[in-house]
Amino acid sequence: MSYPRHMIRTKILGLGSYVPERVVDNHELAFLDDRHVRQPTRQTETSDEWIQQRTGVRERRYVPNDGSVWTSDLALHAARRALADAGVDAAELDCIIFGTLSPDFHFPGTGVILQTKLGIAERTSCACFDIRQQCSAFIYGLQMADAFIRTGTYRRILLVGAELHSHALDFTTRGRDVTVLFGDGAGALVLGPVETDDPRAGVVYTSAHADGTGASDLCLKIFEIARLPYLDYDARDRDHNALMYPRMEGKRVFLHAVRGMVMSTQAALARTGMTWDDIQWFVPHQANLRINEKVAEVAGIPRDKVLNTIELYGNTTAASVPLTIDHWRQHGRVKRGDRILSSVFGSGFTWGAAIFTL
Ligand code: COA
Repeated sequence: MSYPRHMIRTKILGLGSYVPERVVDNHELAFLDDRHVRQPTRQTETSDEWIQQRTGVRERRYVPNDGSVWTSDLALHAARRALADAGVDAAELDCIIFGTLSPDFHFPGTGVILQTKLGIAERTSCACFDIRQQCSAFIYGLQMADAFIRTGTYRRILLVGAELHSHALDFTTRGRDVTVLFGDGAGALVLGPVETDDPRAGVVYTSAHADGTGASDLCLKIFEIARLPYLDYDARDRDHNALMYPRMEGKRVFLHAVRGMVMSTQAALARTGMTWDDIQWFVPHQANLRINEKVAEVAGIPRDKVLNTIELYGNTTAASVPLTIDHWRQHGRVKRGDRILSSVFGSGFTWGAAIFTL
């Protein structure tokens, strides 16, 4: 929704991100086994040329393969950086909104685990939400945070997106269409209220959309709850463990992503009356460089305003937008006070857009 002049608006108080140290380039990826160990022979039939040409991805980050890192740990690093950037103590948080498709466990959600790792578990007045909108989680979460803050429900919200994809990818030719796309990482915002008459301050606009008929076009089932037993395969049996890995109708996802991101971007401008003169940066979800180039072309977005990081991090799903903004802030391109239009698309299908001032 778009807002009239109002005293309380949602301000972005801080931003932070984190990626693990291990860099896996396209060449190495082809030789990794499912324990992420480089083998002498190729495990996946793919090439650096194919991956770069079709997706733009050059390399991505993976957590160590020793079982020591959880999704909540990636989130913790990003959250601490965002809190430090905001000058907010973790104990001040009264809400955590955690977006991920790779939670630590099936339940409980990873928000409560992050709360404990932040050392604020005794702060029982901190509500913890987990949201399940995959690559659209950042916009869905921002809309939730904005509504909570504007209604006075919470005053200090941590919105975090974190993904540990590398443990749930198929390192064989069977899974190559999906495996080459994804990487591990996290991004976080700290949000709070500000009293202002400036209608362009803080979060200016958010919109969230869904079309559930696309649910099976990009999904990771792992189990089917209708069945008894609900999980009935040997995870190590390659002929029967396909449910363990994401499946994707790549072309359908591509087309719907372009359409959803173009439409939500155009609607964001129309509803706010803004033009690209009012906006410094377009930060699309980082799914595929070709999707982002097509969106920019069709929506008439000035090329020098488009920020990407997919070359370096691949698709980090719920983390991709805050990670991209923070990456370019660290490189001096994005600055406090810049206005950003972000648009996203993800599994569900879900999509949306937002305009906000950093
Ligand atoms: N390396 C080499 N070849 C690959 C490959 C890989 N990693 N992945 C797929 N191929 C092969 C296919 O098997 C196919 O071979 P075939 O012609 O012998 O059957 C060929 O490349 C073409 O596959 P196709 O699926 O038509 O390619 P594409 O141009 O559609 O590109 C994607 C595939 C996955 C890159 C593309 O569809 C895409 O990016 N879709 C959107 C994905 C996305 O954004 N997902 C996340 C949304 S949040």
